[in-house]
Amino acid sequence: MVTLISKSPEDTLDLGRQWGREARAGQVIGLDGDLGAGKTQLVKGLAEGLGIRARVHSPTFALLHVYEGGRTVLHHLDLYRLNNPEEVFSAGLEDYLFNPPGVAVIEWLSRWAGPFGSAPPRNPWPAGFRWVDLEVVDELTRRIRYEDFGH
Ligand SMILES: Nc1ncnc2c1ncn2[C@@H]1O[C@H](COP(=O)(O)OP(=O)(O)OP(=O)(O)O)[C@@H](O)[C@H]1O
Ligand SMILES: [Mg+2]
Repeated sequence: MVTLISKSPEDTLDLGRQWGREARAGQVIGLDGDLGAGKTQLVKGLAEGLGIRARVHSPTFALLHVYEGGRTVLHHLDLYRLNNPEEVFSAGLEDYLFNPPGVAVIEWLSRWAGPFGSAPPRNPWPAGFRWVDLEVVDELTRRIRYEDFGH
């Protein structure tokens, strides 16, 4: 597991940009952590790194936003309003975890799969899966931990 400290929104944006430049079709990035920890901020950078010009918004009232025009399509999911894996399955979102078209980034993945250390939704994790946990340390500081699975 890798632990990074972000000291500003710009730091988090930069991390997202870097991941976006490295991302390949089929990759899934699951984000979890405190409210306002910077998950959407990371997605904004990710979209930029993929070469997407559209502005990324928090999909608060939509479960899914699709961003095209970059190196690969980006599917941005936010599971905050779902309660459990059954609801995720009922909403027809499973493919974004196991067989995503392009790159998928999923906020509040814990609605679906447990946090670090607990059982994955399937064993093994799908190839190219990155689990990310963001934690608020203070007003401008975030602890970002991530781990790659299925490589
Ligand atoms: N180091 C930092 N990294 C990211 N965001 C930061 C940082 N410091 C302060 N912030 C602020 O924290 C907020 C993060 O908001 P963001 O919408 O990205 O969080 P989120 O994790 O997506 O929240 P939610 O749980 O509501 O989806 C922004 O207002 C941003 O300016
Ligand atoms: Mg968000």
